[in-house]
Amino acid sequence: MIATHYVRAVRLNRDAVPSFKEYPFSLPAIRHLESLELNPHVTFIAGENGSGKSTLLEAIAVAWGLNQEGGSRNFYFETRASHSELKRFITLVKGARRPLDSFFFRAESYFNVATEIERRDAEGVGGRIIDYYGGRSLHEQSHGESFMALLFNRFVGEGLYILDEPEAALSPQRQLSVLTPIDYYQTEHYQVTHDFLVNPQRMLDRLLDSAPKRPERKIVKPRVKRSGEKSNG
Ligand SMILES: Nc1ncnc2c1ncn2[C@@H]1O[C@H](COP(=O)(O)OP(=O)(O)OP(=O)(O)O)[C@@H](O)[C@H]1O
Ligand SMILES: [Mg+2]
Repeated sequence: MIATHYVRAVRLNRDAVPSFKEYPFSLPAIRHLESLELNPHVTFIAGENGSGKSTLLEAIAVAWGLNQEGGSRNFYFETRASHSELKRFITLVKGARRPLDSFFFRAESYFNVATEIERRDAEGVGGRIIDYYGGRSLHEQSHGESFMALLFNRFVGEGLYILDEPEAALSPQRQLSVLTPIDYYQTEHYQVTHDFLVNPQRMLDRLLDSAPKRPERKIVKPRVKRSGEKSNG
């Protein structure tokens, strides 16, 4: 598979940041960010709940010209104001190629994308948008089914796809079927998982070695009274 970057890196303009003590710059994913180099195929962002992954993804999507609540460049709806100022401090280092397509998927607001498609189709201006998603209302499908409809109908390839928690809707079986088209076996995520399965002890040792150490607790063994021994009390 030949691929060159659409976006090579995501840079935080640190000199312009007013304070790293305040949201959103105080979040772990942002506080230490200088330049996030992207893989030309797929980049996985993993981290603890609340570490700022969604905040960062939203800023990348908006910097690319996508709707902050999800959808393509043609979506403009907004059901709640974004409080994140981060997008003004993010620079996308673009590659030589331009993608043919782009889409921002967020599991938490995909419902709103489905509603927006129905609203615009009801207005009847231009072609039916839902036909690009397989033709069946996304609201009439389960969470997982509607995500699969998006993936296999709307995502035409050679695109920049920003996905926040795409796996949330999918069964393990469907997660595996989704990994095939994105050439999962070329990714660092696959290599790390593979290494883990081949030699779990080595990976566990490494993880436990880097884990924060708990302060040692002195273990006081309860004294068992032997038969015949006199009690002090
Ligand atoms: N307007 C706001 N003001 C202050 N903090 C906020 C605001 N909006 C969100 N946060 C906080 O920012 C943090 C990062 O949220 P974010 O949704 O980016 O995390 P995440 O890494 O995607 O977490 P998860 O794995 O649960 O999806 C959270 O702790 C959240 O409470
Ligand atoms: Mg999140």
